[in-house]
Amino acid sequence: MKRTGKLGALLVLSAILLVTSACGKNNNNAEPSKQAAASSAAPSSEAPASEAAAPADQQITMGFAQVGAESGWRTANTDSIQSAAKEAGVDLKFSDAQQKQENQIKAIRSYIQQKVDVIAFSPVVESGWDTVLKEAKDAGIPVILTDRAVDSKDTSLYVTFMGSDFVEEGRMAGAWLAEQYKDATEDVNIVELQGTTGSAPANDRKAGFEEKIAGNAHLKVIASQTGDFTRAKGKEVMQAFLKANKDIDVLYAHNDDMALGAIQAIEAAGLKPGVDIKIISVDGVKDGMTAAAEGKINYIVECNPLLGPLLMQTAKDMLAGKEVPKRIVTPDGTFTSEQAKEALPNRKY
Ligand code: AHR
Repeated sequence: MKRTGKLGALLVLSAILLVTSACGKNNNNAEPSKQAAASSAAPSSEAPASEAAAPADQQITMGFAQVGAESGWRTANTDSIQSAAKEAGVDLKFSDAQQKQENQIKAIRSYIQQKVDVIAFSPVVESGWDTVLKEAKDAGIPVILTDRAVDSKDTSLYVTFMGSDFVEEGRMAGAWLAEQYKDATEDVNIVELQGTTGSAPANDRKAGFEEKIAGNAHLKVIASQTGDFTRAKGKEVMQAFLKANKDIDVLYAHNDDMALGAIQAIEAAGLKPGVDIKIISVDGVKDGMTAAAEGKINYIVECNPLLGPLLMQTAKDMLAGKEVPKRIVTPDGTFTSEQAKEALPNRKY
């Protein structure tokens, strides 16, 4: 991966990529550092940038508060951050919050105490961050949000938010389904496995999906419950769905891991995943792509976890006093079973 330190180049490239990475196109499985698309939002000049610009070659200490290890996506994300830090010569302090907000808050407070140069984190849920983010701001430590957003009204509490557009991911999933059933004359019963309650990807993927299926009254979500982004929970909730509903046509899972757990439940119930029940999921990790290549998942919306190089470069730029965009959107692709089969041999994660 070649890095660019030039924000201008990133913005120009981003604009081009925004145009070229339209929905439905396959992603090239690359790290999004050079593909990131900056939104129209203004650069974060009001953000709590470091008090004095650090010399370009100064060793940076970054505290990273990870969500947990709930999915294949998360493992790939953690690997990307750890290896990019090593490659960039960033001293990384890493913590795993085991999907608990209080653990992430503790970790952030400990990074503030340790006076790290920058704090980065992927917030497990959207709400409840203002107090600790204010503490970081008061200590003069800039914060970068990766992967997931916070709902803080005061956007000066963080410098930038980098990651996928989850609403768009939900829209891509819904648009594919709406197209598949555009000629339906009977009701299509959909069950939904939501991600972690209160998390940005769960909220947004649900909203985007609903928006796209709203135009067809036959597309009915008959049950929707959280599977917490894990395989075990996905299986458990799908078992309950199957017990309660005799006629399920479609499963929409907010990530591959829950879809994979659900596939186990569907097969145990004597049904054929991908045939008796059509399955759509989000992520595109190797196990999900394998299931898609086997025809067990019909459609995957990609969510790129390889945020490490972009994070390190952005931290360096910011600490060197350069302006960084307030929102950096990383582009995602989509995969049918056929496309998954083709892409699988070169899949990095
Ligand atoms: O925030 C990204 C989501 O978190 C991924 O889609 C999911 O697999 C993970 O747990």
